Amino acid sequence: MRMVDLIIKKRDGQELSDEEIKFWIDGYVKGEVTDYQSSAMCMAIYFRGMSKREIATLTDCMEHSGEVIDLSAIEGIKVDKHSTGGVGDKTSLVLGPMVAAVGGKMAKMSGRGLGHTGGTLDKLESIPNMIIAKTKEQMIEQVNRIGLAIIGQTSSLVPADKKMYALRDVTGTVESIPLIAASVMSKKLASGTDAILLDVTVGEGAFMKNMDMARELARTMVNIGNSLNRNTVAVLSDMSEPLGMAVGNSLEVKEAIASLHGEGPEDLMELCYTSGSIMLTQAKVCDTIEEAREKLHEVVANGKAFEKLCLMVEAQGGDVSYIEHPEKFEVAKKIIEIRSQHDGYIKEIDALEIGVSAMKLGAGRETLDDVIDMSAGIVLACKVGAKVNKGDLLCTVYTNKSEEEYLPVLDEIRAAYDFSNEEVPVLPVIREIIR
Ligand code: URA
Repeated sequence: MRMVDLIIKKRDGQELSDEEIKFWIDGYVKGEVTDYQSSAMCMAIYFRGMSKREIATLTDCMEHSGEVIDLSAIEGIKVDKHSTGGVGDKTSLVLGPMVAAVGGKMAKMSGRGLGHTGGTLDKLESIPNMIIAKTKEQMIEQVNRIGLAIIGQTSSLVPADKKMYALRDVTGTVESIPLIAASVMSKKLASGTDAILLDVTVGEGAFMKNMDMARELARTMVNIGNSLNRNTVAVLSDMSEPLGMAVGNSLEVKEAIASLHGEGPEDLMELCYTSGSIMLTQAKVCDTIEEAREKLHEVVANGKAFEKLCLMVEAQGGDVSYIEHPEKFEVAKKIIEIRSQHDGYIKEIDALEIGVSAMKLGAGRETLDDVIDMSAGIVLACKVGAKVNKGDLLCTVYTNKSEEEYLPVLDEIRAAYDFSNEEVPVLPVIREIIR
């Protein structure tokens, strides 16, 4: 078999056989298929798509390209969540403790942020001394003891995705439904969870820009999970504007802490209550969505969810005093307020623009070697639909960059806003649920 023939076959719109997909993925992981050939194959898939069978085979080959974790030593039904990425998405930091406080078991392996999307691991690392590298045994012990662990994906887990994601990121082939579905589901299947809640983001700040694409991606992933006996549900959530108010690592951790104290922004909390209640029924901890939702409200109100975050941080070596006293987090040296130059209603806050701007302020990395400034980012003062007058605060910018570096970014942030003279309807954060 020759890789070039497989690329030509896909380029010309034909289906690849199971053996051919296996030849590509095995060869790529071993270094026998080159990066440029895999790039060409990803681009051919981007344009030609894949059949259901091809996507299932690609997922299976990727899942088995490395270690497949056995979590059976954790008692009960393990449930995990995965978001397809967004701006200001600190959901796992709020949802994980909430679900664990009600009795769910979540062993979550998270990734780092790249480009305009943030990663849960980077956010966690803004807590001093936090350890995100744990062995499988340590993770199992932690989940059995406190119900929750969020750690970094080990290098042995789905090496095919690690190589391919980095390649896709620089070859314009991220936004492909078969490639995203195989990437996400291979990781979730290999990490050993019993049930999967997928948060498929849709809008400017997400990879899926419209509902049709998001629906297709969600259905593809739900079918893969359910056909392999993993109870899989997808929540389609809005990512046209950032989620919550804070964008940037320690700023988002502070928002997550406030949320667990019952002071979270409406959209973030709604996403957590909806996702969490589905997860608790998937895990059979609760019989109905209504019962689960009530219990989630209870653990936020009585402080048990916040306690879980403290326990997780402690179990992973982090300095809990920062969680108890978030004012201890270092604040960026330059704090700049951006004020409205219009009277009217906020029609749009482009999540992509805000995400890219936060990255340029130091909150994200363009390449995997970039060092993140944990204190950098943007905190919105109001969201789409709000009525503002000239001079009202739109957002606050936090950075340690030089004036020369951050001044152009301020213009880009201003350009992310659009205004209307008419009242603007606010879209619900939950757009659809696919089972
Ligand atoms: N998230 C992933 O894990 N993989 C993708 O391909 C896109 C988003």
